[in-house]
Amino acid sequence: MVVAITAQTIQSPSKKLTLNFAVTSDSVAQYRLSFEKKSVINPSTLGITLKDQPSFLNGFTVALVESSLVDDSWNPVWGEVKTIRNNYRELKVTLHQPAQNNRAMVIVFRLFDEGLGFRYEFPKQDNLNYFTVSDERTEFALTGDHKAFWIPGDFDTNEYRYFHTALSEVNALQGMSSTDIATRSVIAPNAIQTPVIMKSADGLYIDIFEAALSNYPAMCLDINKSNFVLTSMLAPDAVGNKAYLQAPTKTPWRTIFVSDKAVDILASKMTLNLNEPSKIEDVGWIKPVKYVGIWWEMHVGIASWNYADTNNVKIGETNWNALRPNGHHGATTERTKVYIDFAAKHGFDGVLVEGWNVGWEDWFGNWKENVFDFVTPYPDFEVAALQKYAAEKGVKLIMHHETSASATNYERRMDDAYRFMNQFGYDAVKTGYVGKIIPRGELHDGQWMVNHYVRAAEKSAKYKIMINMHEAVRPTGLQRTYPNWLANEAARGNEFNAWSSGNPPDHETILPFTRFMGGPMDYTPGIFQIKMSFYNPNKKEQVHTTLAKQLALYVTIYSPLQMAADLPENYEAKPDAFQFIKDVAVDWDDSKILEAEPGDYLTVARKAKNMDEWYLGAITDENPRTATASLNFLTPKQKYTATIYGDASDAHWEKNPMAYKIEQFLVSEKTVLKLKLAAGGGSAVSIKPATVEETKKLKSYKQ
Ligand code: NOJ
Ligand code: CA
Repeated sequence: MVVAITAQTIQSPSKKLTLNFAVTSDSVAQYRLSFEKKSVINPSTLGITLKDQPSFLNGFTVALVESSLVDDSWNPVWGEVKTIRNNYRELKVTLHQPAQNNRAMVIVFRLFDEGLGFRYEFPKQDNLNYFTVSDERTEFALTGDHKAFWIPGDFDTNEYRYFHTALSEVNALQGMSSTDIATRSVIAPNAIQTPVIMKSADGLYIDIFEAALSNYPAMCLDINKSNFVLTSMLAPDAVGNKAYLQAPTKTPWRTIFVSDKAVDILASKMTLNLNEPSKIEDVGWIKPVKYVGIWWEMHVGIASWNYADTNNVKIGETNWNALRPNGHHGATTERTKVYIDFAAKHGFDGVLVEGWNVGWEDWFGNWKENVFDFVTPYPDFEVAALQKYAAEKGVKLIMHHETSASATNYERRMDDAYRFMNQFGYDAVKTGYVGKIIPRGELHDGQWMVNHYVRAAEKSAKYKIMINMHEAVRPTGLQRTYPNWLANEAARGNEFNAWSSGNPPDHETILPFTRFMGGPMDYTPGIFQIKMSFYNPNKKEQVHTTLAKQLALYVTIYSPLQMAADLPENYEAKPDAFQFIKDVAVDWDDSKILEAEPGDYLTVARKAKNMDEWYLGAITDENPRTATASLNFLTPKQKYTATIYGDASDAHWEKNPMAYKIEQFLVSEKTVLKLKLAAGGGSAVSIKPATVEETKKLKSYKQ
C-alpha cells in the first residue's frame, strides 16, 4: 500500500473541483481529481523518461510548494465571446531528486471550475541542460469503463469517423477502416487520440486533451483495459525519440475537462486560458474571413487541380507553356473572375483558388521533395490581372500552398512565397500537408512538424498574412498566441462527403467535444447540392445532412474563417436559403451553448460582433428531434424578426435532404423556439431587430 507522505489539496475557485497531489512513500508523484463528491481521476502517476539519463519518474522529494489564485480577463482578437475570464487556483510543486544531485522538475497545476491543466517545467539548473525525452508517463486513472467517442491513435492524421464504445471495446486497428485517407499510421491496438470525450456511469462528462502544444510532439492515449488507466503516448521522430529539449523549458499542458453538464464542456475557455497572450503586437490587419472558392468542383470531380494530364513534371525544368491543357483545369482566369464577381455581389471577403500554381501533375503519392515552388502560376491563371480585377471589386484572393507534406521544401521557399503574396495583394493563405512527411521518417504530429507549423504561423505573421492549415496537427489553443492562425483542418471535413463514405449524421455533434476543443476548423459547410449524382449519375456519395443543417453548421461550428463551399450556380438556384450564409456573422460578442449531447444534438446561439443581431443553429444526428431555444438573451422589450431556415416536414438527410422551408416571425426575450429537426437535419435562425414594416406585417411566434 502506497501512502502519501507529502500531500497537498487545492480547490477550484467555486470549490467544484478538488485536486490532490502527493509524493508517495515510494517517492512517486501522483495527482487525483474530483468533481463535487465524485472521483474523476484516481491517483495517477506523473513523470517522463529520458534517453541516456535517469528518469523523472521517481526518487522525488518535495522541495517547495506555492499556491495562488488568479482571476483576470482578456479580450481575444476574434472569438466566440468578447471577453474571456481566466479564473483558477494554481499549485506549483518543485520536486527534487536527491539521488541525482537534487535535479529539479516542477509540476504546475491550474484548477479551473471546469477542469484541470497541468504541465512539467524544467528550470535552469546545473544538473540538467540538454535532454531527450524518450517517453512521457502521464497517467489518467479513470474510475471505470466509460463510454467514449474515439478515433484511432494516429500521429499522421485525425481524419477518421468517430466510434462510440466503452473503453474496453476500443479496437484502434479495426477503427482504421473509418478513414479513406492514404497517409495513416495507427500506433497501437488500444491507442486513441485526444481530445477524447467520455461519459461515466455516474453522469460525468470527461474530456482529456492538451493545450499550448509547441516544441513537443502531440499526445495520444493508451488504454489499459484491465484498470482503465490511460497513459500518454507521444509521436516519435524519425529515430524513435520523442522530444529534444533544453532547460529551462516546459511541456504542453495536459488538460481534463469535467462537468455533469455537456454544455459546460463546450463553453469552457480553459484551452485558450492556458495559452500565452498574442505575440503579435499589431493585430489590426487580422480579420475574420467569409469566403468562397475554386475548390468544391475539384472535390466533386468536375474540374482538376492539374493543368495537364501528364506526370514527371519538374520544378525549374518543365516548360509549362508547352504542356497541353487537359480541358478541365479549375483555376482559370475566367472561372476565377466568375468567383470574384460572385463574392463581390454577395459580400464575401475572399476567393480561394486551388490549383493555380504549377506542380499538380504528379503531386500526390510520390514522396517527392520538390513538387511546388508556390510562385509560378499555370499559363491560364493571370495573377496580376486577377489581383487588379479583385481589388477593383473589393475582394481578396486567398492563396493556396499545398506542400504535398514536403515541409523542407516549404521552409526553403516560404519567404519567397510570402513575398510573392505581399507583392500581389494576398493577405491569407491555406496550406496543406497531404502525404508522407519530408523530412522522411517524421510524422505530421511529431516535434519537428509541430515546430514547423509554429514557424509557418510566425513567419506568415511577419508578412501580415493570415493562415489556415490543413493536415497539420490538431490545434491546442495556439491561435491565442498567433491570432493570424485563423483555422485548421485536422479532422474529417465536409470534403469527405464528396468522394468517400462521408461523415455520418452524428459527426458534427461530436466534433465540438473533440477536435473543436482546441480551436477553429475550416470545415467548409454550406453544401446545397447534397447528392453527388447531380454531377455524375454513377456517383453514390452524398452529404449526410439536410440542406438546413448545412446552414445551421455556420453557427454550431465556431470559426473566424468560414467557407460557403458549394458552387456559385448552386447558391444562385436557391437565393432564399443562401441569404442565411450571406447574413451570418464570423465574429461574435457572445455565445450561448443552449443544449448539447455528444453524438446526439447541439443548439447554439451567438451574438454578432458589435451588432444587436443573433444567429442560432440547431443540429441533430440521424434521429429527428425538437430543439428548444429560449431567447431570454435578447434585449428586453425589443421586437426582433426571426427568420427560421428549417427542414421541411418531409425532409430526411438521405431520402429528401434538400427540402427546406423558411418562415418569419416576431420574437422577443420571452420567446421559446421549438425547432423541428428532421433525421440528420437542422435549423438555422437569424434574429434581427424588427423594422416598423415587419412589426406590422409579421405574426408573433407561437409554439
Ligand atoms: C486536402 C485539403 O483538406 C483540401 O481542402 C484540399 O483541397 C486538398 N488537400 C488539396 O490541397
Ligand atoms: Ca484534408
